Amino acid sequence: MSNDRHKDEVSGTDTTGHEWDGLKELDTPLPRWWLYIFYATIAVAVVYWVLMPAWPIGRTYTPGLLHYSDRHNVAVDVAALQNARAPMYARLAHATPADLEHDPQLQQFARAAGESAFGDHCRTCHGAGGGGQAGYPNLTDDVWLWGGSLTEIEHTINVGIRSENPQTRTSMMPAFGRLQMLTPEQISDTAEYVITLGPAASRLHPNVPAAQRGAAIYGQQCAVCHGVTGAGDRSIGAPSLSDDVWLYGGSREAIRTQIELGRGGVMPTWQGTLDPGTIRALAFYVHELGGGEPDAQPAPAAPTPTPPRAAAPARATTASAAPAIDPSQPATQPSGTTQ
Ligand code: HEC
Ligand code: HEC
Repeated sequence: MSNDRHKDEVSGTDTTGHEWDGLKELDTPLPRWWLYIFYATIAVAVVYWVLMPAWPIGRTYTPGLLHYSDRHNVAVDVAALQNARAPMYARLAHATPADLEHDPQLQQFARAAGESAFGDHCRTCHGAGGGGQAGYPNLTDDVWLWGGSLTEIEHTINVGIRSENPQTRTSMMPAFGRLQMLTPEQISDTAEYVITLGPAASRLHPNVPAAQRGAAIYGQQCAVCHGVTGAGDRSIGAPSLSDDVWLYGGSREAIRTQIELGRGGVMPTWQGTLDPGTIRALAFYVHELGGGEPDAQPAPAAPTPTPPRAAAPARATTASAAPAIDPSQPATQPSGTTQ
């Protein structure tokens, strides 16, 4: 390898002076256009460092003359969006169910706002779309524990169920097994009787003599809340036992377990956490999921004091049916509800 630089005769370009076995390396200069672009990018980079946030310095950075910040811009955008929506939320918060019924624009807003808030706050327990899971009721059917009118649903969302809210909806089915109020045999007998109350009978084929023994226990211990016919009582969130729709599962074992443990699901209170407009939107969304019931008319034409309800007359004795449990005590999450 020799090191003499000279002009290459064929291309007219300088060589680098490097040569291997007669092959010479040319020293072709960079094209002008390429060089100019290269210098231009360096110039742009320098201008960028001066104007924009660029160099890290310990825990901070050079902010640049423009003080540009994506975080600040997002905060401004979000605030602008909230301001733009605030009047709709306020309108929603002050609308009566009747107003809502006659205002398609407000309905559309409530539907969208409700759906998005449901995804943020409710989906973890009630499932995407409100389909529910064991212990967490399905909100898309027309079976309601506490009530399915817009007003009732909104009240449930506001105060929660067995929640920390002083106004919470509450009631407590005694843990008949754990508290040894019933023996395991009595629990089995009562479960057989519960199975006879509705269409579950054709699925689970109850043991008739056991169910006959269970009937008496049911009359003494259960009818007070669930009603003589098993229709349930919404004023205390006692589910219907005659519809073959089950909060904790409809197998013989699941029914027996509920009688043994009582449980008592907790639904958090949203008052204070969410603004009234959002809660109204959620109620509207849940009401529309499929099973919404009409609100009670403000002025009923005929005097109908209370709708017929199987368990209503016996409710006064509810407290004595659950002696060992303080209903105001917030219950813990039901255990073993996932099946
Ligand atoms: C921590 C879990 C949890 C979260 C989160 C939750 N819920 Fe619930 N919800 C429950 C449970 C448990 C029940 C049933 C309580 C019972 O056994 O009576 C319930 C009951 C309800 C009911 C009453 C249903 C009926 O049949 O009467 C409504 C309505 C409801 N939830 C709506 C919502 C909405 C809307 C949200 C979101 C803002 C929400 N829930 C968030 C656990 C939850
Ligand atoms: C103090 C009122 C009360 C009494 C008494 C009571 N229950 Fe309940 N029962 C409830 C409530 C409230 C629930 C809903 C529990 C929950 O939300 O976690 C329930 C739920 C149930 C369920 C589950 C229903 C489902 O959909 O999964 C069964 C089964 C049941 N009770 C049977 C009985 C039987 C049998 C007795 C008598 C031995 C009884 N209950 C006595 C209030 C009561």
